[in-house]
Amino acid sequence: MDLQRITDDIVAKVAPIVGQYPPADYIPGLKAIDPSQFGIAVATVNGEVYGAGNWTTPFSIQSISKVFTLALVLAADGEDLWRRVFREPSGNAFNSLLQLEHEAGIPRNPFINAGALVITDRLHTLTGNASSTVRDLLRAESGSTVDPDPNIAASEAAHGHRNAALAHLLSSYGNLDNPVETVLHEYIQHCALTMNCRDLAVSARFLASNGRDANGHMVLSASHAKRVNALMLTCGLYDAAGEFAYRVGLPAKSGVGGGILAIVPGKCAISVWSPGLGKSGNSVAGVAALDEFTNRTGWSIF
Ligand code: DON
Repeated sequence: MDLQRITDDIVAKVAPIVGQYPPADYIPGLKAIDPSQFGIAVATVNGEVYGAGNWTTPFSIQSISKVFTLALVLAADGEDLWRRVFREPSGNAFNSLLQLEHEAGIPRNPFINAGALVITDRLHTLTGNASSTVRDLLRAESGSTVDPDPNIAASEAAHGHRNAALAHLLSSYGNLDNPVETVLHEYIQHCALTMNCRDLAVSARFLASNGRDANGHMVLSASHAKRVNALMLTCGLYDAAGEFAYRVGLPAKSGVGGGILAIVPGKCAISVWSPGLGKSGNSVAGVAALDEFTNRTGWSIF
């Protein structure tokens, strides 16, 4: 498989739609990013890395950070968290408030914002600092400097009224252990982490290799790596998870910064980035690129 050629071809293939869709506008710092960018990186389980386009340009990973917070909580705490979060697709927008009251403060899954706030709360209790624990994992796995973008974090903090509402509702049901302000701060900090496609794909390689990273370190047990992949498949693209499974057929997690991380179990982690989003908050060119990748390689779980 000539993965370099395939990634180069994908850049050419998606070029007509790159820049045609708007970036997220509800976090003003994200709106300012040039939408005419696209990058792709593939990190294989045997240590090779391929990339094309703007694959070394840093971007805001946003909700992709939720894959790593979930992995850290599962590794430290086992299955305990499932008393506080369900594992079903929500069929609703990632920042919806509707279901949370209906379901008495138990979020549908760990990737919608309500569920991710609960996971961040648990990670903060377990480690004393949720966002720096995620940052340190990503630094260790990528071998690169990873930091939150202070402008994006400040921009989200100033406009994050829906997340504040979700956090207060969670707290009213007793489903946060830490103060609302602390949980929101930690969540915003890990969402604001900045990485490029290369570093993100390399950091997630453990999910393609039964929990073991390129240095032989077990980040997660094989069983938990399987479970994180299952949740990515069913819930990683929110209310577009079904359409994404139909088109691509891989576990994946999107972020409103325009990144998508996808896993081909046993083979590789793929990271794509292009800021223009569709109505569910997922990168349009990123989905098209992964569709093309699975068609070209035949690498899909189906
Ligand atoms: O909480 C938010 O709204 C953002 N920090 C993250 C949302 C996000 O990335 C959704 N993904 N497509």
